[in-house]
Amino acid sequence: MDEKAIIRIGDRQFECPTIVGSEHEKAIDVRQLRGETGYITYDDGYGNTGSCQSAITYIDGDEGILRHRGYPIQELAEHSDFVESAYLIIYGELPTEDELRRFRARISGNANLHEGMLRILDHFPDDSHPMAILSVMLNAIGCHYSEMASNNREQDLDHFDWASTLLLAKVRTIAALTYRMKEGKPWMYSKPSFRYCQNFLHMMFSEPYQDFMPREEVIDALDLILLLHADHEQNCSTSTVRMIASSGANLFASVVGGVSALWGPLHGGANMEVVKMLQQIHDDGDDGSRFIAAAKDGKQRLMGFGHRVYKNFDPRSRLLRSRADKLFAKLEAPDPLLDIAKHLEDAALKDDYFIERKLYPNVDFYSGIILRAIGIPLEMFTVIFAIGRMPGWIAHWRELASHPKQKIHRPRQIYTGATERRYVPLEKR
Ligand code: ACO
Repeated sequence: MDEKAIIRIGDRQFECPTIVGSEHEKAIDVRQLRGETGYITYDDGYGNTGSCQSAITYIDGDEGILRHRGYPIQELAEHSDFVESAYLIIYGELPTEDELRRFRARISGNANLHEGMLRILDHFPDDSHPMAILSVMLNAIGCHYSEMASNNREQDLDHFDWASTLLLAKVRTIAALTYRMKEGKPWMYSKPSFRYCQNFLHMMFSEPYQDFMPREEVIDALDLILLLHADHEQNCSTSTVRMIASSGANLFASVVGGVSALWGPLHGGANMEVVKMLQQIHDDGDDGSRFIAAAKDGKQRLMGFGHRVYKNFDPRSRLLRSRADKLFAKLEAPDPLLDIAKHLEDAALKDDYFIERKLYPNVDFYSGIILRAIGIPLEMFTVIFAIGRMPGWIAHWRELASHPKQKIHRPRQIYTGATERRYVPLEKR
């Protein structure tokens, strides 16, 4: 594109090139700005900063559009499943039948953990948070397969297919066994013939003397939740993964950073907070109106509402609302929290406070209610998000590591501290 951006500072003028993406998003390329003018750009929280060029996921937050590798999320939700979508996100194309069969087989065949990892897992205190355990255990995979975690980019890329398979396979096992460890129950080994989510539910809930046999609708609902979380371009955790990867760190070390970033209540932790909020509203006998009033006063946030990018419906929340309705109709076990959530959404969408700020339900608003219906304990919600987001983290690591001219990520700052001063000896302070 020939358009140039002109930046005028005093009587000096600087021309910046512009960049246009495949969906016509535009950026001003400021890479030479500091060298030419001494100025950096300032964008606290990176709300208006493009940190990379990426071909994985496209979001138009104003229109409520989400596409992975060009495919609309609604089509993937209807026709694909989590494992196939993971392949698409990581490798860029839908797999052929043979590619998909081999991909599934690799994941099923690598689900169990090295006995050494089971010993690590056994030594966490019972009240450890599952996200803390997950971050340790993912790095531990790298310790058991050190040739794949060399921090030598070429070598790590050579092992990428296996390393990524190990992560997709074992993240689910780690999650399930963490739950069993905390419950004081024996490990359940994976069943390679089971599909991804069926196997996860088996490792979570089967007993040595009795297999857990979930309904198809339950397996499908969990699969949909994972699929809808599979990637979301440069969100906080994925940007963290890319930041770590930019230093040359291996795939395992990089995704561990993603887990830590995801843990926070403003990101992946929000799905837990939504259910706590709905429970509180229910226990207080509020129909949601008092909570909404408090949110408008800034006393609390309506969790599961608002998004840095979506200023319209998050398409994932719509898919989950309708899936929640279908699931509860099948289960014939209504959850009062679903009614409260729907009432809150309807009320907020008519309220000027939320309308003016363009606050809509995000992916976390209904996912927690579905997870509750499946029987997943609250403490595990963010771990489920991490299982779902793993393909995205892996795809972004690969995209960055494969870039021949990739530089280390290193933002600048505006320093606001003390100017130079002399050291004062202790006795004179
Ligand atoms: N409830 C009430 N008010 C809100 C909410 C909310 N959930 N979210 C934003 N606002 C208000 C803010 O108070 C602010 O109001 P002001 O302009 O009067 O000061 C305005 O909307 C803009 O909010 P910001 O915090 O500046 O928006 P930002 O883009 O930085 O934050 C975020 C986005 C973190 C998601 C925010 O909307 C939020 O905290 N939501 C609740 C937590 C949540 O659901 N997180 C999950 C996000 S999706 C994900 O990570 C998978």
